[in-house]
Amino acid sequence: MSYENLENVRTEIRDQILFVTIDRPKVLNALNSQTVEEIGRVFDDAREDDAVRAIIVTGGGEKAFVAGADINELAKKTPMSGKNTSERGQQILSRIERSTKPVIAAINGFALGGGCEIALACHIRIASDKAQIGLPEVSLGIIPGYGGTQRMARLLGKAKALELICTGDRISAAEAEKIGLVNRVVPAESLMANAEEMARKIISRSPVAVRAAIEAVNSGSEMPFEEGQFLEATLFGLLCASEDMKEGMNAFLEKRPANFPGK
Ligand code: COA
Repeated sequence: MSYENLENVRTEIRDQILFVTIDRPKVLNALNSQTVEEIGRVFDDAREDDAVRAIIVTGGGEKAFVAGADINELAKKTPMSGKNTSERGQQILSRIERSTKPVIAAINGFALGGGCEIALACHIRIASDKAQIGLPEVSLGIIPGYGGTQRMARLLGKAKALELICTGDRISAAEAEKIGLVNRVVPAESLMANAEEMARKIISRSPVAVRAAIEAVNSGSEMPFEEGQFLEATLFGLLCASEDMKEGMNAFLEKRPANFPGK
């Protein structure tokens, strides 16, 4: 895999973890359309890349994860081009959510607008104690357009989502943890170490089981309960045919660590 021709996104693979750094520090990593497309390409490549077992998304520089969509570009949108931009962003962020490999957002600073929406599309969110998170779009006369109204309401419930979206308030990492918007808050200097530790733990588990778990939770939570349970049982049954299941069970019975083939 090449992850080639990227201007605004840096990638590095280390110990089977793909580090994706959104990197336009002069504008606090704001998302212009090129950056959104580059993120899409990185997630397409990562899906096919056997060298990648987990993905960590973060922002370049000290100050921001991503400070939202690029307002210079947004200011020029017409109703039709605005709709297209929103739909394209939604499609690309859904690629993050549907990643078959676990995706951890390491929120290192401002995660506003589209930045908050990227974090919401990730499977797990770890925030630095310096992070500030919010959906300020109503202050600009628009609403979140990269899935934020939908993911925020599903994650936090309608009342809290509407409070955050309609006030446009930025909240601290501590407040975000309290309401369940981020999984945990850690000191800024140990953010990446924490994200890596979590990625490494997940990598040590069965990749086929982790993939099935992501699919069961993501797809199942969009279905009526009984259909979600049906999906769960089907994936459970499928895993019983996997080499990983044999290895996991044998390792337990033989009192040794499992070495999953990922098949
Ligand atoms: N789009 C384009 N440029 C942006 C941007 C965005 N979303 N967010 C920040 N920038 C630019 C600023 O214009 C500034 O550029 P300049 O140096 O040429 O003036 C630079 O990034 C640094 O930002 P600045 O505002 O000076 O930093 P700050 O520490 O005073 O404030 C924020 C940080 C994040 C609070 C502030 O930049 C902000 O509110 N950004 C917009 C957030 C937003 O509304 N996002 C949702 C968009 S839909």
